[in-house]
Amino acid sequence: MLRRLPSVLATFLGWAWAGGSLAQAEIRETSVWWLPRNVSNFGHEIDFIFYVILWLTGVTAVLVFGAMIYFIVKYRRRAGVGAIHSHGNNTLEVVWTTIPVFIFLGLAIYGNEMWTRMRMETPPADALQIAVVGEQFGWNLRYPGPDGKLAKMDSHKINKENPFGVDSADPDGQDDFTTYNDMVIPVGKAVRLHLGSKDVIHSFYVPQFRLYQDMVPGRVYDFVWFRTDATGQFQLACNQLCGQGHYKMFGKLGVVTQEEYEAWAKGKTPAAATAATTEATPNVSVANR
Ligand code: CUA
Repeated sequence: MLRRLPSVLATFLGWAWAGGSLAQAEIRETSVWWLPRNVSNFGHEIDFIFYVILWLTGVTAVLVFGAMIYFIVKYRRRAGVGAIHSHGNNTLEVVWTTIPVFIFLGLAIYGNEMWTRMRMETPPADALQIAVVGEQFGWNLRYPGPDGKLAKMDSHKINKENPFGVDSADPDGQDDFTTYNDMVIPVGKAVRLHLGSKDVIHSFYVPQFRLYQDMVPGRVYDFVWFRTDATGQFQLACNQLCGQGHYKMFGKLGVVTQEEYEAWAKGKTPAAATAATTEATPNVSVANR
C-alpha cells in the first residue's frame, strides 16, 4: 500500500485541480460535461457531424478493443499449444481499407460543403452588419443606424482613437453607434460580422453559436455570418491568448426579439455626435503587423 501512495496522491491532486478549474469556469446553463446548447443555424449541422464522428469512432473503438481483448484471451500462451503463423488475409485487408476510405471521403466532402456555406459564400444581403474590433482587453462594437449601412472599414486606418478604421466623413457612418463589451442581436435575423483587431490576435468565440474566428491585426474579416434561432443571454469571449488580461476579455451578448433590439438601438447616440476626426492620427498600433 505504501508503495502505491505516490500514484494515489497524484490522482487525488489531479482531481482536485480539475475540480478547482471547473469551479472557476463560467457559469453555464447546461452541464459542464457536454456541449452547451446551440442557437445558430450552422451549429445544428456542426453538431450533427460531431455526433456522426463520435458514433463512428466510438463504435469502431468498442469493436477493435473488443476483438483485441477476445484474441488476447483466446490465443494466450498455454502449455502444449503451439503458435499459429498467419500471413494475413487479402480480402479482409481490402475491405477494412476501402470502408474507411469512403467514410473519410464522405466526411471531407460534407465538411467542405458546410465550410463553403459558412465562410466562402456571400452572406445574405439583408443581414444586420456589425463591426467587432478586439483590443487588449475588450470588444468594440459598431452598429449601423437607421440607414442599415455601416461606415466602410479600412484595417490600415485602425488605431487607438479609431478602433474601427472608419472615415469619419463617410455618410454611411454618420448614424452608426458604438458600444463596448455589449453585443445585442435580433433573433432570427442574419448577422454579418466585420471582424478586426486593434493590437494583437484575438478570437471571436461564442460556444452557443459554434462560432470561432481569429482576428489578426491588419485584416478585416467580413465573411462570417450566422442566424440565431432562440433568444438568450450569452458571453462573447476571446479565445486567443492575447495578453495578461485575456481571461477578462469578454462581453455581454444578448439575443433578443426584433422589438427589443430596435428599442435598444434607439437609445444609442450616433457615433458622429461623439467621435472626433482621427484619420490623421499615425497608425501606430498595427505598425508591427
Ligand atoms: Cu483577446 Cu484573448
